[in-house]
Amino acid sequence: MPEAQVFLTRHLPVGLEQLQQVANVEVWTERQPPPYDVLLKKVKAIDGLLCLLTDRIDEQLMAAGNLKVISQVAVGYDNIDVAAATARRIPVGHTPDVLTDATADFTWALLMAAARRVVEADRFTRKGLWRTWEPDLLLGPNITGATLGIVGFGRIGQAVARRAKGFDMRILYASTYQWEPELENSLGVEFVPLEQLLQESDFVTLHTPGGDDTYHLFSDRQFDLMKPEAILINTARGTVVDTDSLYRALANGKIAAAAVDVTEPEPIPNDSPLLTLDNLIITPHIGSASRQTRSKMAKMAIANLIAGLRGDRLPYCVNPEIYQ
Ligand code: DGY
Repeated sequence: MPEAQVFLTRHLPVGLEQLQQVANVEVWTERQPPPYDVLLKKVKAIDGLLCLLTDRIDEQLMAAGNLKVISQVAVGYDNIDVAAATARRIPVGHTPDVLTDATADFTWALLMAAARRVVEADRFTRKGLWRTWEPDLLLGPNITGATLGIVGFGRIGQAVARRAKGFDMRILYASTYQWEPELENSLGVEFVPLEQLLQESDFVTLHTPGGDDTYHLFSDRQFDLMKPEAILINTARGTVVDTDSLYRALANGKIAAAAVDVTEPEPIPNDSPLLTLDNLIITPHIGSASRQTRSKMAKMAIANLIAGLRGDRLPYCVNPEIYQ
């Protein structure tokens, strides 16, 4: 009987049997994430925690137990106090790379749906409003040849740019640093200040991490700078955009439309004024939700968990400095 104890805050599609060979596994099987006080109790008796972006993993939680490893099933980890984990020499794992293409694909799904008003058109049709072909029915902007502004130019931002090349777009990016000319040339992208990107882009798509550094990076001032015909896409983190500012920008025509896969808070409350807007598409944080991708994410998270339980270096580690 394995001695290590692990707690999974959600059932995963793959990897459980492999994990059971090295640990006693408890899985939270409810649809809602475990409440924080439940996690606080669980953490006292476990060596490894597998968590999702819906779980708050803070200093208090770490102090309550003796964790050998925290393994997050996501590339982003703004729900985890990584500095506190590092101070306690707890390795934190995540799942980079495998969701880059799925998330970039979905960004394009949202961009095209918002531009060409696919969701509105479907609602229109189902309401029985399609009476004839009309020259000015549900018009949207051109995608081909438009200017795309990518905010945050890591793996996913770059994958979005690769796809944009196929649409002959002018591609601007704003980022904390400028990439080397070889990469810029191969993607056909131009590094510009955020203000310029906002003023010149027809589509603005967000690919920054969440967390303190990007909190409300988009609020009234940024929407004021955007073109009235611009469309905002957010598949990054809801906290990057001030929800009230987004509502004002869409309701007052400061921008034409938006499509967001992430909101602040998540899930979006049923009475949010955002849900009254026709020029907004909202999806429930499914950017990485292809079957293949979610299965790869689960495998990586299990690999991180097992490595941490064994005292091995995590293959995909957020805080490798603990090994120095
Ligand atoms: C992540 O991995 O950070 C995404 O937001 C969820 O797939």
